[in-house]
Amino acid sequence: MRVVSGIQPTGGLHLGNLLGAILRWVRMQDDGECLFFLADLHALTVEVDPEQLRANVREMAAALIASGVDPARAILFRQSAVREHAELAWVLQGTARMGWLERMTQFKEKSGKNKERSSVGLFTYPVLQAADVLLYHATHVPVGEDQKQHLELARDIALKFNNDFDTELFTLPEPFVGGGTAARVMSLRDGSAKMSKSDPSEMSRIQLTDSDETIAQKIRKARTDPAPLPADPSELAGRAEARNLVGIMAAIQDRPVEAVLAEFAGQGFGAFKPALADALIALIAPLRARLEQLRSDPAEIDRILEVGAERARALAAPTLDSAYRAVGLR
Ligand code: TRP
Repeated sequence: MRVVSGIQPTGGLHLGNLLGAILRWVRMQDDGECLFFLADLHALTVEVDPEQLRANVREMAAALIASGVDPARAILFRQSAVREHAELAWVLQGTARMGWLERMTQFKEKSGKNKERSSVGLFTYPVLQAADVLLYHATHVPVGEDQKQHLELARDIALKFNNDFDTELFTLPEPFVGGGTAARVMSLRDGSAKMSKSDPSEMSRIQLTDSDETIAQKIRKARTDPAPLPADPSELAGRAEARNLVGIMAAIQDRPVEAVLAEFAGQGFGAFKPALADALIALIAPLRARLEQLRSDPAEIDRILEVGAERARALAAPTLDSAYRAVGLR
């Protein structure tokens, strides 16, 4: 099993990243060879603030390590430090079809009404993502629900390339959405919106850097409804905020929603919220402490990322070479 996944360096981590992706990465480190990277080339597809990007890469790397990504076991690096990503992406732009990319829902969402003014990179974003995983012959790619379509595209690209050039170079990657924790953590203010860095309300998300008091306060003020919790998960239908909070608890405790409900059925949020706040604080406080320590030594973060890049390059270079040969560039 070869696991590859990336995350955009948006700065710090929030609970959505942590439960939806990072804690799954951490668990997978025991199951296979893992490569995790900061997708800083992908960050160029929207407006760029160079100083901010530089800072965000370090901050995100520190947050990943603090959360349990272990650079001694997993290969942790920044995408732009391994130039094979960009080079293979260019080769694969000859394989990917316009029609395939035009179906990508993330592009439609991100470009919105302003498609004509979007960067070309935003359109070809999924081709770079395909290169990210195909370079390393990834077998499993842990991603959130919203990235499944991009992974299916990577499979289509791999298949067409292998066919067109009569080779077996690329492994077809499996999107891996399961893995225990909640696939999707929603905003604490609106159960129908994903928890997101771009939500203007700080109260909508919990950050790795939040103090215990802030965490408790955000949970106290989280939107809910007046009904008690049911025993059966199907009765959470139509109660998006309730379902979200129960889902967060289940993910933290790594047990099914049924088990959480069995404990709290018949009780209201007056009982559930303090228990949830305690569980969150127990999860985040040690990560926050480690993050503060890591932040005090940025040179060490840079060194860790450079060691990771070195290891990644050793795996990526032969694949790019084979791809160049297959298309007649060598
Ligand atoms: N597009 C992914 C996201 O926004 C990040 C990403 C880039 C990624 N390259 C990847 C994820 C390769 C998995 C594999 O979440």
